[in-house]
Amino acid sequence: MNLNTMLETVRALTAPGKGILAADESHGTIGRRFTAIGVDNTPENRRQYRQLLFQTPDIAGILSGVILFDETVRQRADDGTPFPELLARLRIVPGIKVDAGAKPLAGAPEEMITEGLDGLRERLADYRGLGARFAKWRAVIAIGEGRPSTYCLAANAHTLGRYAALCQEADVVPIVEPEVLMDGDHTIEQCFAATEAALDHLFRSLRDQHVVLEAALLKPNMVLSGAKCPRQAGVEEVAEATVRCLRRTVPAAVPGVMFLSGGQSPERATQHLNAMNTMPGPRPWVLSFSFARALQAPAMDAWRGSPAAVAAAQQAFLHRARLISAAREGRYTPEMEQAGVGSGGRR
Ligand code: 13P
Repeated sequence: MNLNTMLETVRALTAPGKGILAADESHGTIGRRFTAIGVDNTPENRRQYRQLLFQTPDIAGILSGVILFDETVRQRADDGTPFPELLARLRIVPGIKVDAGAKPLAGAPEEMITEGLDGLRERLADYRGLGARFAKWRAVIAIGEGRPSTYCLAANAHTLGRYAALCQEADVVPIVEPEVLMDGDHTIEQCFAATEAALDHLFRSLRDQHVVLEAALLKPNMVLSGAKCPRQAGVEEVAEATVRCLRRTVPAAVPGVMFLSGGQSPERATQHLNAMNTMPGPRPWVLSFSFARALQAPAMDAWRGSPAAVAAAQQAFLHRARLISAAREGRYTPEMEQAGVGSGGRR
């Protein structure tokens, strides 16, 4: 294990004003997004779309890293440059999703366990050879009657620990993602309790499995009201609950908290990130982003598979990315939502 190599990767990923683009949708997930905009889910369309994102002018000032999918890490831009190389030339760190998705948990089939540990050591070596310097593994935790169970939390935490230890053995920085879903009618208090329990289990497991926290990043959900909860918590309430939950559970040795957006609107995710970064009180970790939907939704909507719309889609992508970058620094204001206003990039 070369700790310095990983610490360098962590430093790059948590650089001021920057964060991560999650572009690692599985074929099924990207297929659902493409269907919504009338695009066929083919390898070539997926390549065209990811190329559009990666080649967006000026995006390198905002993205510290990009998470790729197994197919994407092997694809090339029109000029033949492999995507990981294209990103590395822009000083954007290439990363890779290494989990194989969530399946029903045996003995508790209404809950989920993430698979993909078999052969992971060999796959990590392969991905590292292709240029990946960090990895992602997502555990899926649902709130409901009697859920999440301790069994589900412990099984997923153990799996995340196994994954993270294998990553560090290969000098790959692990992003550990225990996602408490926002689906359902649960309250923000229930989300707080589930998130606190998930993070508690996770950090105990990471310690047990000798994971070096300084060389790992956390990708948590924000603490939110369930999407169908009649009472929706406000922006300040979400920010306060999320930071309080993290303070209770996340050791100060963890360098960065890279939030997922989880199905929030781009505006909402931006507001929440901004509010957390303007809160008083101690925050020993960087609070940044590793968004998929909140970063990509405007670009997808503008693109809709049309080559003539590539420049407009890139503009929409860059605009949202600049707002999220401002929120990561606590400098976002709603007026910036109008294109061109105060969105002149990092200062
Ligand atoms: P969202 O930001 O769309 O939640 O995706 C982040 C991610 O990578 C989930 O694993």
